[in-house]
Amino acid sequence: MFPIIRYARYTYEVTEVKSLLFLGRQPKLGLAELESLYGSDTVSLINDVVAATSLTADAIDFNRLGGSIKLADIIGTVDNTDWRKIERVLLKQVPMTADSLEEGKIQFGLSVYGNKVRLQEIQATALRLKKAIRAKTNQSVRVTPNKEQALSSAQVLHNHLTGPRGLEIILVEADGRTIVARTVVEQDIEAYAKRDQNRPKRDARVGMLPPKLAQIIVNLAVTDTNPIYGGIVLDPFCGTGVVLQEATLMGFDVYGSDIEPRMVEYTDKNLMWLLNQPNCPVSRPPEYDNDSTWRYFSLEVGDATNHTWKYSRAKTSSVYAGIACEGYLGQPFNKFPSEEKLREVMNTCNQIMKGFLKNIAGQVESGTRFCVALPAWHRPNGKFEHLKLLDSLEELGYNRVSFVHVRDEELLYYRPDQVVARELFVITRK
Ligand SMILES: C[S@@+](CC[C@H](N)C(=O)[O-])C[C@H]1O[C@@H](n2cnc3c(N)ncnc32)[C@H](O)[C@@H]1O
Repeated sequence: MFPIIRYARYTYEVTEVKSLLFLGRQPKLGLAELESLYGSDTVSLINDVVAATSLTADAIDFNRLGGSIKLADIIGTVDNTDWRKIERVLLKQVPMTADSLEEGKIQFGLSVYGNKVRLQEIQATALRLKKAIRAKTNQSVRVTPNKEQALSSAQVLHNHLTGPRGLEIILVEADGRTIVARTVVEQDIEAYAKRDQNRPKRDARVGMLPPKLAQIIVNLAVTDTNPIYGGIVLDPFCGTGVVLQEATLMGFDVYGSDIEPRMVEYTDKNLMWLLNQPNCPVSRPPEYDNDSTWRYFSLEVGDATNHTWKYSRAKTSSVYAGIACEGYLGQPFNKFPSEEKLREVMNTCNQIMKGFLKNIAGQVESGTRFCVALPAWHRPNGKFEHLKLLDSLEELGYNRVSFVHVRDEELLYYRPDQVVARELFVITRK
């Protein structure tokens, strides 16, 4: 076995690292999500895209994470960052790990994070490991070729590297050492694509919230990682229902409203579709077996600036598990608008979102947590224009939630060519 490692003498705040999470395209969002769910002292950043946690892999509910692409169990460390020396240790240890796999052709992959080793060297090592694994196990071995230093989650998925005959070894350079880990699970990009593209109602006009971002929004809004005890996730700007769909899959009861009746109807159709998917965690209670009108969710038409929300299911507790929404983002822009147009759109968005926060403040208990995606406009010079309401939170009755590992201004989701970014804004009712 690899030596057991303790990180207490290193700079990580996490004293004993057990598993690693590999963060997605916007790593800071993924890190904030982990901090929100598991606490700031269980998670820390090793490098730009790798987070260390003191949780074992089985304590992490990976499928609900929108910001992490792989989860790996740490199996040891090599006290070196020199590739030749690392390879020597791997050639001894990896065949033994492979020996515990199910019988049959072995799928093997090697990923590297942080070490500056060249791609050809990674591939050469992977081939030497292939030989060594074959010699030890007597099974044929296929190596997934590296297009980059690290295999993508799609490669891990399509090559079954986390299956019963699969093995992805990951090397992460940290503090002059190399952490050796084995991937346990990867992001199921096919499942995301299915629930994004197969749902019956989509609307490009209200924007297409990616399910991964919807998961992050819900995870930043709720503090309870285990929704067994009920609790409703409320989305007062539900649109086509992506946030509610993801909250449902996490096991929450969901409640949505939107000013447009057509949107409420779309959410209704989409949630009913989800409910009828074979892997949907929500099952119809037996007493409703023959009742086709049964809904596990509640929806209504309402203007968030003056609507009164109610609870919908008797079994739910009296507090919201969280309020999670992508608010009104204003009109989409292909290129940066004129200053006049920008002011006009910003004012409208500000009025609606401020009106919503004012209205709902009197309807929720103290401590209720929100994650609201607000628009922020990305100027060609790289700067962002933010909504004014961010300056009057105290007055509106809220406290901003700050993260230990991520700064407020890093909670931005956008693609470089996008004018309207989404700013994730986490607050609690005072
Ligand atoms: C950016 S979209 C949300 C899209 C949604 N996340 C989805 O999954 O499709 C914003 C939504 O806010 C709604 N909206 C705009 N003004 C509103 C208001 N005053 N009250 C409630 N909903 C409003 C729009 O109809 C639109 O559906």
